[in-house]
Amino acid sequence: MAHVNVFDTTLRDGEQSAGVNLDRLEKVEIAKQLERLGVDIMEAGFPASSQADFEAVKEIADTVRGCSVTGLARANKRDIDIAWEALKGGAEPRLHVFIATSPIHMTHKLKKTPDEVVEKAVEMVAYAKEKFPYVQFSAEDALRSDQDFLVHIIEKVIDAGASVINLPDTVGFTTPDEIGRLFRYVRENVPNIDKAILSTHNHDDLGMAVSNSLAAIENGARQIEGTINGIGERAGNAALEEIAVALKIRQDRFDFETGLVLKEIKRTSDLVSRLTGMQVPGNKAVVGRNAFAHESGIHQDGMLKESTTYEIITPAMVGIDSNRMVLGKHSGRHAFKQKAEELGFELSENKLKEAFESFKTLTGKKKEVTDDDLFAILTDTQTED
Ligand code: KIV
Ligand code: ZN
Repeated sequence: MAHVNVFDTTLRDGEQSAGVNLDRLEKVEIAKQLERLGVDIMEAGFPASSQADFEAVKEIADTVRGCSVTGLARANKRDIDIAWEALKGGAEPRLHVFIATSPIHMTHKLKKTPDEVVEKAVEMVAYAKEKFPYVQFSAEDALRSDQDFLVHIIEKVIDAGASVINLPDTVGFTTPDEIGRLFRYVRENVPNIDKAILSTHNHDDLGMAVSNSLAAIENGARQIEGTINGIGERAGNAALEEIAVALKIRQDRFDFETGLVLKEIKRTSDLVSRLTGMQVPGNKAVVGRNAFAHESGIHQDGMLKESTTYEIITPAMVGIDSNRMVLGKHSGRHAFKQKAEELGFELSENKLKEAFESFKTLTGKKKEVTDDDLFAILTDTQTED
């Protein structure tokens, strides 16, 4: 099975989520957990953006030993020099340098011609390569860039020393078939592409970041970028935990694996949620509170007979103790009986029927019935004549 590198940008793109501001100690705490999770590369921040970010990136690079630590830089010498000062103590110093390649960005933001953009990119990759053993080049807004222009600039920056080429869908605009075609086109048309690893970095504006990442992998990407819980600019980045679990569960479809320690996923998700203050939606895939909760009678009955009827991921795989049978208005007698036994009640058929009726009445008043509610119902039923 082929390996796909995981490039985590929770501490850079993730921290760009509106309202999120991690201090140095919080960033270091998350970095240590990301190391335990087994990411290959972590982007610790954007050192030139502030003194605080510089210090956080430096401390992470000096502390983390189990993976490569990188930092973001625009294509200018000042950003690259500052990034080097922050990253040089790392186990495997790596620079992530970017410049926009789409007509919209080149015209309105950079006010540069395509030739000037190529010249700047090549000059800055070569400059970075004088210091950094690994240089990643990102063609910002690649998915709205001209494919032949991308082919041209990629060939040049690889010649200048870039060993990873990232094609970001900066504004979450693409679809799985489109991104697949772009990666295939680049692979087939850049003559020196074998000297570099292709990376995919997707935003979730149209809700397709994870699907787009999987499509890019199928078409030649060997590095996936994303964040824990999918946090990030606007609608966020691709959720790394979802991609890693999708690759694991659908090995029949994708013959790729990441090196992530899947059972560290829940702990990492909880930590990121707590320190960023960004709550994980209950129905979020893999880590949401309801991802392993079953409420309807039919599903609960199926689960009690054989868990694979309604569960494709085991909670233990991602570090969650167990699934939850939520007793609510859709629940049936089978789950109710099981829960009563778990709470230590062995009721006759008649008593059980009575208790179940009381429970159903209560579900008309409450959305989720708690163990305390059940205990009260079961005790009352047991003691009544
Ligand atoms: O989304 C994006 O284009 C980025 C780049 C800086 C890689 O985050
Ligand atoms: Zn991004």
